[in-house]
Amino acid sequence: MSRKDRIKQLRGLKAKALLGGGQDRLDAQHAKQKLSARERLDLLLDPGSFEEMGMLVTHRSTNFGLEKQKFLGDGVVTGHGTIGGRTVFVFSQDFTVMGGSLSEAYAEKIVKIMDLAAKVGAPVIGLNDSGGARIQEGVVSLAGYADIFLKNTLMSGVVPQISAILGPCAGGAVYSPAITDFIFMTKGTSYMFVTGPEVVKTVTHEEVSKEDLGGATAHGSKSGVSHFTCDNEIEVIEGIKKLLSYIPQNNLDEPPTVKCDDPIDREAKELDSIVPENPNKPYDIKDVIHAIVDNGEFFEVHEQYAQNMVVGFTRLNGKSLGVIANQPAFLAGVLDIDSSVKGARFVRFCDAFNIPLLVFEDVPGFLPGTDQEWGGIIRNGAKLLFAFAEATVPKVTVITRKAYGGAYDVMNSKHIRGDMNFAWPCAEIAVMGAKGATEIIFRKEIAKSDDPDAALEKLTDEFAERFANPYSAAERGYVDEVIEPNQTRLKLIRAYEMLENKVDTNPQKKHGNIPL
Ligand code: HXC
Repeated sequence: MSRKDRIKQLRGLKAKALLGGGQDRLDAQHAKQKLSARERLDLLLDPGSFEEMGMLVTHRSTNFGLEKQKFLGDGVVTGHGTIGGRTVFVFSQDFTVMGGSLSEAYAEKIVKIMDLAAKVGAPVIGLNDSGGARIQEGVVSLAGYADIFLKNTLMSGVVPQISAILGPCAGGAVYSPAITDFIFMTKGTSYMFVTGPEVVKTVTHEEVSKEDLGGATAHGSKSGVSHFTCDNEIEVIEGIKKLLSYIPQNNLDEPPTVKCDDPIDREAKELDSIVPENPNKPYDIKDVIHAIVDNGEFFEVHEQYAQNMVVGFTRLNGKSLGVIANQPAFLAGVLDIDSSVKGARFVRFCDAFNIPLLVFEDVPGFLPGTDQEWGGIIRNGAKLLFAFAEATVPKVTVITRKAYGGAYDVMNSKHIRGDMNFAWPCAEIAVMGAKGATEIIFRKEIAKSDDPDAALEKLTDEFAERFANPYSAAERGYVDEVIEPNQTRLKLIRAYEMLENKVDTNPQKKHGNIPL
C-alpha cells in the first residue's frame, strides 16, 4: 500500500469511527431529543481542544455472534480537552453502539483516561448514556464496571469527578456516578435506577413510571442522588462549565480567582432590616447571600432537595467559597436527616478541594419526632457535625438569628474550629427557644401562679431579654464580633484575606469513621 493509500485508509477508519453505530441510530438518538456522544463533547470542550484516545478500540468478545458486531471506539468516546483553557478528561457514552452498553474494552478506555487524570491532576467528566453492562459479555463486563468503581473511589478527593446522566442508567451502572462528586440530570430523557419499573412491579407490586421512579425530578428533589436538575442537555453542559469555574483542578491546587468589580466595602443596607422583628417569622436566606456576595451571584447545588438547608458556590472579592446556610423560609431552617446529609457532603467536597466555607446560621435546632429518630437523625446529624469538625479549610460563620441547642455547636461553631464567628445584633444564641426554656425551668413557679398564662409570658420575655441575644456568647469569645448586618460583606472579605494562608491539620490516621 502506498503512503498515500495508508493516509486514505486512516482517514476512512476515522470517518467510520465518527459515525458510531451509524446514521440511522444517530437519527434515532436525535428523535429522542438527545445529542450524540460527539455533539455533547463539541459543546462541552473549548472549540478544537478535544484530543481523542482509543478511537480505534474494538471489543474482543465472540459471545452470541458479537464478533460480527464491531464498531470502532466500541461505544464510548474518550480523551482530553480544555474548558475555559483548563485541562479536563472526558468520556462520552455512545448510545448508538449497542445501547452504549459497557464492554471489557470500553471499561479499559474509561480507566485509561481516569489514570491519566489522576497523574495529571485534572477533573474527569463522564457523560453517561448507557444500557449498563453489555449483557453478552457477562462477568467480564461486570469486572469492567468494578474497575471503574475502584478508580472512582481512589480518585475521590484527588481530582473532581462530575457525572452527567443523559439517558438511561440502570443496574450497577448508577454506582459509578454515585461515587462521583456531582451529578447532573436532564428532565424527561435521563433515568437512574437500581432496577427499572418492570422489576419493581414484580417485586413490590408498585406501578410507577420510569420518570417517577428514577427521573431527574425524583432524584433532584426526593432521593438527593442528583445535584442539578436541568431542562435539557445544553443546560447540563453550561452547568458543568459553571461548576468548574468555582473549583480547582485537584486537591493540591487552589480554586480559580476571578477579577472582582463589586466594591469590597459595598454596604448592604437592606440587611439591617431583613430579619423580621418577630422571631417566628421567616425570611429568605438566599436574599442574605445575594446581598453580600460578588454581584449577587450564587450557584446553588441541590436546589430542590432538603430546602431547609441551602448549599452552593459563590465568590467574595473574586475568590471561591462554599456556602452552607440554614433556610428559615423552609421548615423554619430546622436540621433534619436530609438537610444534615446534604450539608455534610457539601462541606466535605469543599474541604477536600481547598474551598473555604461560609456558614449562615439561623437554626431552631434538630427536628424532633419518631420519623426523624427512627430514621437516624442522631447518626445523620452527626455527619454534619463530623464534617464541619474535621474540615481544615478557612471556616467563617455568620449567625443571623437563631443558634439553638446542638445545632449551635454543629453549624461551624468556634468550638469545632470555626476561624471567625460573627453574629448580627438580632442573633439568639441559647440552649433552646425562650418559651420552651421557660416552661422547663420555671414549671413550678408557673403552676403556682394565679395566672399561669401571664406568668409564662412574663418569664418568657425576661428569659428572651437575658439570653436571646449574641452577648453571652460574645462575652466568652464564642463569637468573635457582633457586627452590623450592612457591614457583613467587608467583614467577611477581610476574614478570608486574613485566613488566606491558614494551615491546620488533623491527626495522622488511615481515615476517620464518619457515622455513615
Ligand atoms: C447489550 C444492549 C444493552 C445491554 C441495550 N442494548 N442495553 N446490548 N447490553 N445492556 C442494545 C439493545 O439490544 C438495542 O440493540 C440497542 O442497545 C438499543 O436498545 P433499545 O432497547 O432498543 O433502546 P431503548 O428502547 O431506548 O431502551 C434502552 C434501555 C433498554 C432502557 C437501556 O435497552 C434496556 O433496558 N437495556 C437493558 C438494561 C439493563 O438491564 N442493563 C444491565 C444492567 S445490570 P439493537 O441492535 O436491537 O438496536 C448492570 C450491571 C452492572 O449494568 C454491574 C455493576 C456492579
